[in-house]
Amino acid sequence: MFEQIQRVPGDAILGLIEAFNKDTNPNKVDLGVGVYRDAEGTTPIMRAVKEAEALLLKNETTKSYIGSHGDPRYAKVVLPMVLGEDSPVLAAGRASLTQSPGGTGALRLAADFIHTQLPGKGIWVSDPTWPNHLGIFEAAGVTLRKYPYVDAENRLDFPGMLAALKEIPEGDVVLLHACCHNPSGFDLNADQWQQVLEVVKDRKLLPLIDFAYQGFGDGLDEDAYGVRLLAENLDEALITSSCSKNFGLYRERTGALIAIAGDNEQMENVRSQIAIVARENYSNPPAHGGAIVAEILESAELAKQWREELTEMRNRINGLRRDFVEALKPFELDEKYAFIAEQRGMFSYTGLSPEQVDRLREEFGIYMVRSGRANVAGLASENLPYVAKAIAAVN
Ligand code: LMR
Repeated sequence: MFEQIQRVPGDAILGLIEAFNKDTNPNKVDLGVGVYRDAEGTTPIMRAVKEAEALLLKNETTKSYIGSHGDPRYAKVVLPMVLGEDSPVLAAGRASLTQSPGGTGALRLAADFIHTQLPGKGIWVSDPTWPNHLGIFEAAGVTLRKYPYVDAENRLDFPGMLAALKEIPEGDVVLLHACCHNPSGFDLNADQWQQVLEVVKDRKLLPLIDFAYQGFGDGLDEDAYGVRLLAENLDEALITSSCSKNFGLYRERTGALIAIAGDNEQMENVRSQIAIVARENYSNPPAHGGAIVAEILESAELAKQWREELTEMRNRINGLRRDFVEALKPFELDEKYAFIAEQRGMFSYTGLSPEQVDRLREEFGIYMVRSGRANVAGLASENLPYVAKAIAAVN
């Protein structure tokens, strides 16, 4: 039977890792997959994580299952991190957290939950969005449609977005990026979130907020602005959270699906269904990453250290954004690309065409996603002039 199976190209983002590793160009620069890099170009293990792991190694007593919802200690620290210490939603017992294998696992839980429990409801995603959103919802059998997000001039198209949201059929799900929009780097401001809230209320939509980069934009609380606004002003919402980036736990697969319901009773009903979905997918989530996060956030000292390290990462990325625009000045491209300094998070939608991206890779060994998405964290003071010169050459 296997003779009929067709080979397909690999994932466009993950494939860049392999292609970059194979490249022998000594000047090569990796602006592809979304992982943080320090000034030396490495993706370090945070010091707070190392310390938490040492404690775990010493104190861990069992490797038994942690249950479909995961570790209660993890839920206890992540819920306030996402929803806020004094969240009225938490006080009312309206929020449930299910630990998941990364943010991707949380999205798949959400997709299967929507498919089985909200039959016939479609999901609307921004155009563009993280390409894997399309794969995840299609694989789960949820009909997917798009609303505009970036215009032809490579700027946030908020009027287009809002107009499209107003046309979404009542009860459908709308996927919003909480902060650090992947791939564009264009985020909503407070006033725009308020307008989104009004439409979501009006159209009785269910928001699914993807929160993969908390702390990478303007701060842990600042980045949660839209999440908390919607959570506190709507009866129902789904949130997918990830500790891949802010704790640097990429390969430990540490995420969560948070479900908010109208009251505690409904929350428990929803929670029971999510447990089934988790059980049928992978039974129990991996424990190690969640235990690290709990260990850090339960300790005032480790939590402080972690916040400092996170701030360092965020400041480095935002500094690189400004330096990148500066580096383009000698080529009189600083005004054209001034928006890079305004975008937030790991990514910048550069506006470079797939052909320009191909040239950057072939002629300069600079790797980015063909959509023109660059991982700003892959830049460093040593490679900035080289990257700027290459961009000028393909402009
Ligand atoms: C990215 O968009 O590069 C990251 O979220 C990593 C991934 O899994 O695609």
